[in-house]
Amino acid sequence: MAEIVEAPVGGEEATSAQTRLPFESADSLLVVRDLVVHFHTDFGVVKAVDGVSYSVNAGETLAIVGESGSGKSVNASAVLGLVPPPGKVHRGEIIFQGQDMLKLDDQRLREIRGNRIGMVFQDPLTSLNPVFSVGAQVSEAVQIHEGLARKDARERATELLSIVGIPRSRERFDDYPHQFSGGMRQRVMIAMAIAMKPALLIADEPTTALDVTVQAQILDLLGSLQQEFGMAMILITHDLGMVADQADTVAVMYAGSIVEYGTVDDIYYRPLMPYTLGLMASVARMDQARSGRLRPIRGQPPSLIFRPPGCPFHPRCDYAREVCWQEQPELLEYDQQHLAACHFAGNLPEPIRKDEP
Ligand SMILES: Nc1ncnc2c1ncn2[C@@H]1O[C@H](COP(=O)(O)OP(=O)(O)OP(=O)(O)O)[C@@H](O)[C@H]1O
Ligand SMILES: [Mg+2]
Repeated sequence: MAEIVEAPVGGEEATSAQTRLPFESADSLLVVRDLVVHFHTDFGVVKAVDGVSYSVNAGETLAIVGESGSGKSVNASAVLGLVPPPGKVHRGEIIFQGQDMLKLDDQRLREIRGNRIGMVFQDPLTSLNPVFSVGAQVSEAVQIHEGLARKDARERATELLSIVGIPRSRERFDDYPHQFSGGMRQRVMIAMAIAMKPALLIADEPTTALDVTVQAQILDLLGSLQQEFGMAMILITHDLGMVADQADTVAVMYAGSIVEYGTVDDIYYRPLMPYTLGLMASVARMDQARSGRLRPIRGQPPSLIFRPPGCPFHPRCDYAREVCWQEQPELLEYDQQHLAACHFAGNLPEPIRKDEP
C-alpha cells in the first residue's frame, strides 16, 4: 500500500511514530493520514482510497489530479464526512483545524461543513434547486450561516453574487437557475460556498462541464477569491494543465493511492513517475505551444477490486521492468518535498515502448 514515508535523511531515523508529512507545518489546516475508504459491493471490496496522506496549509492550494475513478472524489467526500453508502472509512485520520473529523458526530460535522469548509461540485444544475430563484438560494445560505434578517440576507446575497462576477446581480436576483449559463451557475455555487468565508474550499472538478474560456474564468475567480478571503483550497481535476497557475502543491492519484506528490513546479517540470509523465503528455500545457497531438495514456486504469500485483501502473507503463510487477513501490521522498511511488523514480530506464513515428 502506498503510504507517505519520509526517507531517512543523512541516516537519521524518524523519531516519532507519526512522521511529519512533507508539507505539514504548524500552519497546516488539514492533515490527512493514511486514509482508507472501501466500498463493499456484490462484486467485492472496492478499494477506492487506499492509504493516502497529505496536508493543506492555510491559504494554499493542493491540486489532486488523476484519471477518472482514481479516488479523488471519494477522498474529498471523506474529508467532508460525506462518504456515500456502501462506502466506509476504514482507517486514517482527517485532522481539520486540530480536530479529527472522523471522531465528530453528525451535528458537529454539519456545522463544520456549513461554516468552515465550503464545497463546489462539477454540475451546478443538479446542485441548485430549479424551483427557487438563484437569489433566494444564496440568501438562504447566508441566513443559515450568518443568522441575518431576511432583508439583510438579500443585501448580502446580492453583494456575494456581484463578488463572484454576476453582472447586474440586483436585477438577476429573482431569475431561476435555468436562466443562467453553465459558467454563471457555477459562479452562483461559488457564491454559496464562500458565503460563510470558509477556511477551506473543496472544489471537485469545478470547471469540467464548462467550455475552455469559461473554465479559465472560473479558475481565475477561485484564485482571486482565495487571495481575498485567505482560503485554502483543494482543487480536484483530471486536467493537470488547468491547475498549474493555481496550485502550490499537487498530489497525483492512481488507483486509490497517491503516486507522486510535490510542489507544482516539481510535478510540472520535474515529474518522477511515468504516470505523471503520461498525464503531462495527455493535457494541453499553457506554457508550451504544442506541435503534434496530445497523447493519451494507453490502456485503462486497473480494477480497484483486483489490483494488479506490484506497481498498479505497471501494465500501462512504458518503463516497467520485472521488479514493477513483483513489488509495490512505496511513496518515498526523492528530493526535498518531492515524493514518488516508482522503483525507477529519478532514474528511469530506456522506455520499452517508444513513441510511434
Ligand atoms: N457508491 C459507490 N459504490 C461502489 N463504488 C464506488 C462508489 N462510489 C465510488 N466508487 C468507486 O470508487 C472509485 C473512486 O471513485 P471516485 O469517484 O473517487 O473517482 P474520481 O477520481 O473522482 O473520478 P472522476 O474523475 O470520474 O470523478 C471508483 O472506482 C468508483 O467505482
Ligand atoms: Mg470525481
